[in-house]
Formats: sequence, C-alpha cells, structure tokens
Amino acid sequence: MPVSIRPLHPVFAGEVEGVDCTRSLGADAVAAIEAGMDRFAVLVFRDQDLTDEQQVAFSRNFGEIESYGTPGNIRKPGEHRLQTPGIIDFSNLDKTGDILSVDDRIAFFKLADRLWHSDSSFRPVPAKYSLLSGRVLPSWGGNTEFADMRAAYEALDERTKSEIEPLVCLHSLRYSRAAIGFTELTEDEIVAFRPIRQRLVRTHPVTGRKSLFLASHAGEVEGWTIPASRMFLRDLTEHATQREFVYSHEWRLHDLVVWDNRQTMHRARRFDDRNEIRDVRRTTLAGDVVTMEQ
Ligand SMILES: [Fe+2]
Repeated sequence: MPVSIRPLHPVFAGEVEGVDCTRSLGADAVAAIEAGMDRFAVLVFRDQDLTDEQQVAFSRNFGEIESYGTPGNIRKPGEHRLQTPGIIDFSNLDKTGDILSVDDRIAFFKLADRLWHSDSSFRPVPAKYSLLSGRVLPSWGGNTEFADMRAAYEALDERTKSEIEPLVCLHSLRYSRAAIGFTELTEDEIVAFRPIRQRLVRTHPVTGRKSLFLASHAGEVEGWTIPASRMFLRDLTEHATQREFVYSHEWRLHDLVVWDNRQTMHRARRFDDRNEIRDVRRTTLAGDVVTMEQ
C-alpha cells in the first residue's frame, strides 16, 4: 500500500496511511514520509502498537537519535523507569511505575512542558524530529498542540520581519522553568542548563522556508534588556500561537505523532495527573544545523 497523507488542518499537519511503523521501511516509504514532514511539519500515524525497540528502529529511518553528555531534565541516573537507550519517558510515572506526586520536583520540572516550546532549542544543535508514542492515555485532556512557525513567520508584517532577521535569543531550561516559578535548581543543574544562542529566524534546510524559532526556553534577546526581551518574545509567541496556526491533537491509543522541531512549536495540555496515567514515550532525532551559522 503506497504512503498517502490526508491533511488534518488548513495550514499544516497530516494523517498518514499505508505505513506500519513496526516493520522496516523501504527507501520509497522513508522518502515519502520525509517529504510529508517537510510539507506538513506534523504527521500522525494511527494504530501503531509499538515496543520501545520498534519505536527506536522506526525513528532511525530519519536520522540519528539525539544524545548529549548534558541532561535535558532533572532525573538522575537510577531514577529512570524505562531502560531502552533513546527512549525518553514523558509519562507522569516515577521509576517504580507509580503516579508522580504533584509536589515532586520532577513533576514541577515536567509541568513546564505545557508551555509552548521546540524540543532541544536549549541545545547547541537543536532537534530535528520528535516522535511521541501514546501507550496509556487519560480519559480526559492531555492533547498535544502544535503551532506552525512558518505560517506564523509569513504572517508577520514586513517591518517586524526585518527587525527580527538579525536577532539572536538565549535559550535555557532555566528560563522555561522560571516562567512557572520553578527556580529551585541545584548548582549542577544550573551549570548543565547554561543558555545557548539561537537565531530567532531560521531557514528549513530542505524547503528553504523561513520560520520563527521561538520557545518558552528563550529568555533573552541578545543585547536587549530582560524586560524588553521578555515582552517582545511574549508578543511574538502570542502572534505565533493564534488558533489559525494551531492544530490540537486529540490522542487515540497507539498514535505515533511526529513533528519537525525546526518548523513548529508544541505544548502538552492539562489532564488529571493526580489520578490518571498518561504514558507517552519520545524518541528525538538530532538536528544537523547550528542556527547561528544560517
Ligand atoms: Fe516537547
């Protein structure tokens, strides 16, 4: 069955048919999915009952799994529930499989994933795709929302486009966590999460389309005061996340949702995290572009 993609939203996002993510893919299927990603930026694959190993194998069709010496969260070695290399646990469970206490600092840290962001924008080379697999879903809430940063860029007025063209922002997990009042980081965490420079306008390496590289991880515009930076970034984010640019994904069991972090932002939505389990697992593909060199 050939790969086909049905649009889910007027601007971006599509649903893929004709792909079994548990099996190895031919070169044609990989190319069709990559082309679909370049065009739609978010693709949904339904009914993909994946093991962790199958998720890693499917992900590797599209690049290398991201790996870094510095952590992207505050879980320590030995605090991880899942052991397959490359699989990141985005559930509300602790290492024993119990629901995380709402006053656990890991839960505080994770809450900031509900702010708009692009994965790994706080890394020197930010991520290419993220692939999120829905293994256990709550009965209410927990949507993932996506915003098309190409459409948001293109809708800016010309004056704003030229104003932002040369701008560089500083991104750090510290900023996104501070935005919800979580600042109790250890000395080691503060060092690990030191700010990284990223261009505010980036260009997609294949399509050449420009997009806004925004995230709640962005806390400063280089050379600007903090209040001016924060106000400007808030203003741009408000523009970029207007409903016309947003697709809200309502999860079904065994959905695999893939997004291109180079052209979208996303956020998790609320669910009853005290009483219900949401077990979603992510693989992340490394990017190959330093935005500062674009
Ligand atoms: Fe994320």
